Amino acid sequence: MVTIIREMPNERFELTLRDGTPVIVRPLIPEDRALLAEAYRRASLQSRYNRFWTHTGEVIGEKMLNQVLAQDPLKHVTWAVLDASREFPPIGGASWWRDPQTPKEAELSAIVLDEDHGRGVGTLLLALLWLTAFRAGIQTLIGYVQVENRQAAAWMRDCGAQGEWDGYKLIFRWDLEKIDLLPDTRVAAELADWLVKLSPEILV
Ligand SMILES: CC(C)(COP(=O)(O)OP(=O)(O)OC[C@H]1O[C@@H](n2cnc3c(N)ncnc32)[C@H](O)[C@@H]1OP(=O)(O)O)[C@@H](O)C(=O)NCCC(=O)NCCS
Repeated sequence: MVTIIREMPNERFELTLRDGTPVIVRPLIPEDRALLAEAYRRASLQSRYNRFWTHTGEVIGEKMLNQVLAQDPLKHVTWAVLDASREFPPIGGASWWRDPQTPKEAELSAIVLDEDHGRGVGTLLLALLWLTAFRAGIQTLIGYVQVENRQAAAWMRDCGAQGEWDGYKLIFRWDLEKIDLLPDTRVAAELADWLVKLSPEILV
């Protein structure tokens, strides 16, 4: 039985990426506003488009900033991975939003700075979303991916999501209660390792 929490807990974990890099993972806080805007600016045009589905330029809108930073452990959370040794620590961030009409479901989104793709950061973020969503009583995480975004589609599929095409976009779903159905891929093994490591910290 998982305890449902109603206030954002003060969580912060010190972890190590597979290449040995120490990282800090934590939810975003209102004081991260400038950092978030700068991370948005640093992402490539293509990554921004893949994450936000719009060609917005380098400046994130105030409304989007407010939405991403408005944390509520039952409705929406955003976590970031940071490398404190860098001049600009954020490496990636990911969020889930609960569907008000179908509260057992939440939509996820993730973005990792381009030069840090393939280091396992997205998969670590997915584990954090998985556990924090599960803690909120969500059963299904859903990722929407543009058909041409092969990288994200491969990542979600390799991480065990069931994919379908609705004629317009790709829809990937994870059943958060079925960790035993993860496929035999390197990223799914990494995802499982993070879930095992972090669940005693997050699912109290
Ligand atoms: C999708 C994204 C979040 C993945 O983050 P990441 O940190 O690179 O992911 P990981 O390193 O944990 O996992 C990499 C896995 O992705 C897949 N992948 C990565 N690059 C790939 C490529 N060029 N071609 C095919 N598969 C690729 C593989 O499954 C790979 O696993 P492997 O390294 O064992 O082969 C990142 O690519 C990104 O920020 N993309 C732009 C925004 C976006 O598309 N978001 C998703 C929609 S919301």
